[in-house]
Amino acid sequence: MNLEAVETELVSLVKDLDDETSVKLFEKLPKGKRLRSKLILKIAPQSKEAVKLSAIIELIHAASLLHDDVIDDALTRRGAPSLNALFGNKTSIMLGDILYSKAFYELVSMGEEIAKRVSNAVTLLSIGEMMDVELSKRFNPDFDLYFDMIYKKTASLIEASAASAAVIANKNPENYGLYGKNLGIAFQIVDDILDIVSDEKTLGKPALNDYKEGKTTLPYIYLYNDMTEEEKQKLVSYHGKELNVDESKWIKEMFEKYDSVQKSHNFAKKLGLEALKSIESDDRGGDLTAIMKNLIERSY
Ligand code: FPP
Ligand code: MG
Repeated sequence: MNLEAVETELVSLVKDLDDETSVKLFEKLPKGKRLRSKLILKIAPQSKEAVKLSAIIELIHAASLLHDDVIDDALTRRGAPSLNALFGNKTSIMLGDILYSKAFYELVSMGEEIAKRVSNAVTLLSIGEMMDVELSKRFNPDFDLYFDMIYKKTASLIEASAASAAVIANKNPENYGLYGKNLGIAFQIVDDILDIVSDEKTLGKPALNDYKEGKTTLPYIYLYNDMTEEEKQKLVSYHGKELNVDESKWIKEMFEKYDSVQKSHNFAKKLGLEALKSIESDDRGGDLTAIMKNLIERSY
């Protein structure tokens, strides 16, 4: 079973809705990396149930991004206009609700254990998003708050995907869940790094956008904690606002001076190795190791 089977299942689930508008809007959504599906299919290969689970998780993920783009006022997603930019917030929220409810309708037939793991992750996802919004209101210098937020916002659904795939494949869900959790946190850290080191063309959104949105991500937290009092004040004064060329340049120079991006990347790598520890005896083909390595080294 492969990713193509997941795409076919996704189209079929959305067609089931018997609503042409939903089908047309869904077709306009970018497909993304399908990281969660890749993970599920590696943990539970050769299984129709894994394809169904992957499609359910991708529906939930797509719904969460539709809502997130409204919450973040994001005009682009993967380099193209976001659905809210094209059709407005109301359409995005409603399509999110439709995809999310369809996913839950399908989830009930996956068995109680999987249904509980996935629905619990969606609660965490929503709590994480709320924390992100709250934390973005002021500069956050606290590592633990950041890690807790990205665990909930991003890693919880990856954790539930990996653990549920393990349930399907009769493997140990706790070990795979831990792999997914660490992978998810590392994934979000790399995402946060790319916002700083990539150019606008690669990112499909303006660089240093996170800080403008008020998000104090790991490199900024490392930076702040290493800075002089005077530098700290200046950094905080740039938080949550449109940066001019000189301000962006100063922030980038500070990142160089204190090696904050490298420190963050090293942390992501450490988590990656941690993640591999929980499944390495099982990963004979090396597929899950490869997913982790690609994720840590990715540049998009
Ligand atoms: C992207 O974060 C957002 C998420 C990973 C989760 C969003 C979750 C919700 C809106 C709550 C759940 C809602 C439903 C309907 C399931 P980001 O803004 O840091 O990343 P980005 O740069 O990709 O936008
Ligand atoms: Mg966003």
